[in-house]
Amino acid sequence: MQCSWKAVILLGLASIAIQYTAIRTFTGKTFQICPLTSPLNCSLGSDGEAFGGLCDEFPYFFYNNSRKTHVLILATTRSGSSFVGQLFNQHSDVFYLFEPLYHVQTTLIPHYTHSRNTADRRVMLGASRDLLRSLYDCDLYFLESYFKPQPANHTTDKLFRRGASRALCSPPVCDAFSPSEPYIDEGECIRKCSSLNLSLAVESCRERRHVAIKTVRIPEIADLRALIEDPRLNLKVVHLVRDPRGILSSRIETFRDTYRLWRIWRATGRKPYNLDLTQLSTVCEDMLRSTTTGSSRPLWLRGRYILVRYEDLARNPLQKTTEIYDFLGLPMEKSVEEWIRNNTRGSNDISAKHKYGTVRDSAANAESWRLKLSHEIVEHTQTVCQQVLEELGYKPVNSPEELKNMSVSVIEDKTFVPFL
Ligand SMILES: *[C@@H]1O[C@H](CO)[C@@H](O)[C@H](O)[C@H]1NC(C)=O
Ligand SMILES: *[C@@H]1O[C@H](CO)[C@@H](O)[C@H](O)[C@H]1NC(C)=O
Ligand SMILES: *[C@@H]1O[C@H](CO)[C@@H](O)[C@H](O)[C@H]1NC(C)=O
Ligand SMILES: *[C@@H]1O[C@H](CO)[C@@H](O)[C@H](O)[C@H]1NC(C)=O
Ligand SMILES: *[C@@H]1O[C@H](CO)[C@@H](O)[C@H](O)[C@H]1NC(C)=O
Ligand SMILES: *[C@@H]1O[C@H](CO)[C@@H](O)[C@H](O)[C@H]1NC(C)=O
Repeated sequence: MQCSWKAVILLGLASIAIQYTAIRTFTGKTFQICPLTSPLNCSLGSDGEAFGGLCDEFPYFFYNNSRKTHVLILATTRSGSSFVGQLFNQHSDVFYLFEPLYHVQTTLIPHYTHSRNTADRRVMLGASRDLLRSLYDCDLYFLESYFKPQPANHTTDKLFRRGASRALCSPPVCDAFSPSEPYIDEGECIRKCSSLNLSLAVESCRERRHVAIKTVRIPEIADLRALIEDPRLNLKVVHLVRDPRGILSSRIETFRDTYRLWRIWRATGRKPYNLDLTQLSTVCEDMLRSTTTGSSRPLWLRGRYILVRYEDLARNPLQKTTEIYDFLGLPMEKSVEEWIRNNTRGSNDISAKHKYGTVRDSAANAESWRLKLSHEIVEHTQTVCQQVLEELGYKPVNSPEELKNMSVSVIEDKTFVPFL
């Protein structure tokens, strides 16, 4: 008994040594370790590599909480990501970019479809991560290599959906709209602002405290691990999910060519033999993988991952948005609240016609798939996506009557507590 305390201390020391070695092994090459006292030295810059030796002497877990937050909205097409993007776009201290990875995709895989092609998808990832890293550092020039012809004098008309970013439609980038303009129409921005001067866009990005990027072109959360663990970034991921039955329905309406066979199935009640089933299974597999990774709470996701169901956001937009902002540690702003109030009531006619418009009654919209899909397609979806439906609390419907009876909710109340 007498010397057991010594044994305990020895064991303790040994385990600290082992853990320390493990951390060093993991962080040795990929991590640039950074002193608390000069957080700015951690940002990527022209001298990005310069701090290597110096920073190595400091524990890697020190970082400055008040530095820039880099938000990534991880979503899939037709899951409400434009809506969630707006929740950041409307914030005066956020520099928001809508789908910059579009350029990577169209350059590397011009004939990309929504189906699974693992090789294609992997080809994009490396390039996508490089671009994201640069954009979070406000290096928008990095995009230029994706524009053809390459811009002269850092000026371009080629940026995809430039008008979807308030920052790129207001000063210093464009003088046509005042920074306090409550609503900037995307088309109006394209018409009134001249070509995008990327130098001014860089300036605008640097002036703002935070950068938010929305993407539907990263398959799953594990693909972001290298960025999440990069101590030069302060990346936090908002993983947006939606009932796959809602996603499918919305895609059938929106992508009329790609989803033509699904429309035929819906109209005729007969499943076309050559229907591309991977269009659906890919969505569910990716969503399930990210959700499973998230719920297993690996250390690298601590404080960096929040799962948001679109349906919860649609039902309770203000409260959910506040929760997301709280998690990210960003102050909510009046302009965001006002935008939510204006855009989540019904009968708003500003831009509901637009394919990617967000102005609509989101709550009604979230479950409208039940009136649009046939029971057969719904059943098929429930079979293919069974696991992810269960994981996310989307209840299966068992009959055509139940499907169309909107007073029966198919969305389980479920709380997804962020891993802090
Ligand atoms: C980086 O750190 C050095 C030494 O601490 C300091 O002199 C320099 O100003 C810092 N650079 C930035 C960009 O903060
Ligand atoms: C953290 O960063 C902010 C802005 O870059 C700076 O004002 C603040 O002094 C830094 N805090 C510490 C503890 O270094
Ligand atoms: C770029 O700027 C230079 C110097 O201002 C000018 O001479 C040149 O014509 C510009 N190029 C284009 C394509 O606008
Ligand atoms: C873009 O803005 C920068 C910074 O204000 C300016 O120096 C440059 O001349 C502008 N470029 C063009 C092509 O107008
Ligand atoms: C919200 O709607 C009101 C009334 O239509 C309008 O005056 C205001 O500018 C709108 N604000 C936003 C942020 O869209
Ligand atoms: C819809 O569901 C509710 C609750 O289960 C039930 O009371 C009602 O009779 C159903 N309506 C129809 C038309 O089946």
